[in-house]
Amino acid sequence: MNNNSTPVWFITGTDTDAGKTIAARALLQAFSATHCRVAGYKPVASGSQLTAEGLRNSDALALQYHSSVKLAYQEVNPLTLQEPTSPHIASQLEHKPIKMEVLSAGLNQLKQKSDIVIVEGAGGWFTPLNESQFFSDWVIQQQPDVILVVGMKLGCINHALLTQQALLNAGVHFSGWIANAVQPQNQHYDDYLATLRKNLTAPMIGEIPYLPDLCSSTALGQYIDLLRLK
Ligand SMILES: Nc1ncnc2c1ncn2[C@@H]1O[C@H](COP(=O)(O)OP(=O)(O)OP(=O)(O)O)[C@@H](O)[C@H]1O
Ligand SMILES: [Mg+2]
Repeated sequence: MNNNSTPVWFITGTDTDAGKTIAARALLQAFSATHCRVAGYKPVASGSQLTAEGLRNSDALALQYHSSVKLAYQEVNPLTLQEPTSPHIASQLEHKPIKMEVLSAGLNQLKQKSDIVIVEGAGGWFTPLNESQFFSDWVIQQQPDVILVVGMKLGCINHALLTQQALLNAGVHFSGWIANAVQPQNQHYDDYLATLRKNLTAPMIGEIPYLPDLCSSTALGQYIDLLRLK
């Protein structure tokens, strides 16, 4: 496939630090194992380091590394902001306006180069991009399938159900969700999981355990069941 019908999955999370990047890595690995040419995309990244090559964001570098097609950094992350805060604030501070056309052009470029694109959002569903637009507005415009990463901790049920409600209200396709164990021990983990399974309308497509020794070579694709995607 090499055109606009290239499937795109958008990864949102119950919150910042829910595990979107880990889940995106897991999905990139799982799709790569099926011999798909898969590209990771982090259209807007805040919280970046200045390097000899310019600003670099660790999420975007991880997605670049785990993509099965070779991509330049700017192809993975066209909008790089230094300040580790909401994109709309960093954008104002750094005088770099966030334009939805730029996000869309970058996605179209990746669609030409791959069979599947995995897009990581920033923060949660309603992250502001500028004074008048949220990240969700761009997703609604693009109509990718959406995967929700639930960071399994106290409060996650409320955040997951609110996000589901927002996805349904937006009319986007909620394809699946991933339970990600962000904490080493959580005595109520099984109860959270059962409540989420009962109340989320999309299938659970993966369960990522707490991985204390997580590094760039950790095999994460094994935790995803692509056949469950709706
Ligand atoms: N299953 C896990 N086991 C161990 N550590 C984890 C796990 N999931 C996430 N973490 C750690 O929690 C932090 C947040 O995870 P991650 O970067 O994937 O979240 P995110 O939703 O992408 O965050 P952001 O909103 O900053 O993009 C990272 O330091 C990551 O290594
Ligand atoms: Mg991330």
